[in-house]
Amino acid sequence: MDKMKEQALFDRMKTEGQEQILRFWSELSDEQKDSLARQIDGIDFQMIRVSMQQKNLVLESVITPLHTVTTEEQKEEEEKDRAIGEEIIRQGKVAALVLAGGQGSRLGYDGPKGTLKVGITQDLYLFGILISNMVSNMEKALSKRPLHFLVMTSDQNHEATIRFFEEKAYFGYPKEYIHFFRQDMAPALSHEGKILMEEKDRISLAPNGNGGWFTSMQRCGLLEQLKKDGVEWINVFSVDNVLQNIADPVFLGAASSRGVYAGSKVIAKVNPDERVGAICYRNGRPSVVEYSELTEEMRNAIDQDGHYLYNFGVTLNYIFHLKETEEAAKSQLPIHRANKKIACIDEKGDRVRPAEPNAFKLEYFIFDILEAFDDVLSLECIREDEFAPIKNKEGVDSLETARALLVKKTGRPL
Ligand code: UD1
Repeated sequence: MDKMKEQALFDRMKTEGQEQILRFWSELSDEQKDSLARQIDGIDFQMIRVSMQQKNLVLESVITPLHTVTTEEQKEEEEKDRAIGEEIIRQGKVAALVLAGGQGSRLGYDGPKGTLKVGITQDLYLFGILISNMVSNMEKALSKRPLHFLVMTSDQNHEATIRFFEEKAYFGYPKEYIHFFRQDMAPALSHEGKILMEEKDRISLAPNGNGGWFTSMQRCGLLEQLKKDGVEWINVFSVDNVLQNIADPVFLGAASSRGVYAGSKVIAKVNPDERVGAICYRNGRPSVVEYSELTEEMRNAIDQDGHYLYNFGVTLNYIFHLKETEEAAKSQLPIHRANKKIACIDEKGDRVRPAEPNAFKLEYFIFDILEAFDDVLSLECIREDEFAPIKNKEGVDSLETARALLVKKTGRPL
């Protein structure tokens, strides 16, 4: 690297207050220096600055309830909305996007979460189940053209994910309609806001949260490709729910007929502590407060009739109108900081394995983009039909509970 470039790098890190990244620069080989410079280029410094200045998203805001269209209220509209939605499917105006860039640390499964085997005697995997759930809605709509299916991965699981799809022959789905793209990464920060180093030439990075989907999809050219192909809506959902209802015509039709450009599927919570984000208004804008950030007061708030005010939790199945979302995505999203134990090196270059949380992991959350929409459809779905997530190794929301719910719904053994 030439001297001018090197100086520019040092100046820039000084301005950002992140000189420690270059602490071991003189010990690095030319190759390592180039690699570290490339990692620095990929860092979103704006995200770091915003994260350190941001106020508490819940405590410093006014949170109020948002009306959910219950299954009861939706009943009368259902057939009309289904017909509208099926037409959207037949015309190929909706695409599906699975958020598969997460690390799945709670599950303790070594590999991309979508490659988890759900079948017991059958060769049935999460990714394959999601594709077949989408195909089922396409078949019911008598659709003759495939829908685009996008898979958001991260640096950590990109290759393994693609290899898996190849090995499984894309689960019988036309390969040219399956697109993989990587989400961006974000650095881990010390509690003082300093970027941590994993090695002398390596920044400590983790996927930047599921809210990174839109900009990452846009940057790799997939947004343009979808628009060119006439896609107007995108259904974005988590990888871990075996009952995920993908390209649901009723959901699409209900949003479309109500003239709204974004929607979220929600369920009535089993109890106030269920680990799902609560749909609400934040400072008068449609929003979600994540379960990890929900206050005791919000969790237990009730109306005059004794009903919980924040009773509906998001299942992580959203629809967005692409054109409006492109506008919405221009606003800076808030940043969520999770306090974690992150292994790193110290100022001497020695490895630190913290016993207590030592660093912030920075994440964008998908639902924060809802605040840019004037109106959002919150549509209740029936838990037994649409929500069987695999989050934990055992107990609630585990492979075992998801398998049982899948068998119950389909009536077929696994
Ligand atoms: C998530 C939702 C929560 C919802 C619940 C329903 C968010 C922020 N949280 O919680 O509101 O009620 O599911 O089950 O949406 N992912 C990425 N990249 C990342 C991080 C995550 O693609 O950087 C993906 C994961 O692969 C997964 C999904 O996002 O598909 C959810 O991530 P996870 O961390 O499991 O969220 P939960 O805490 O379960």
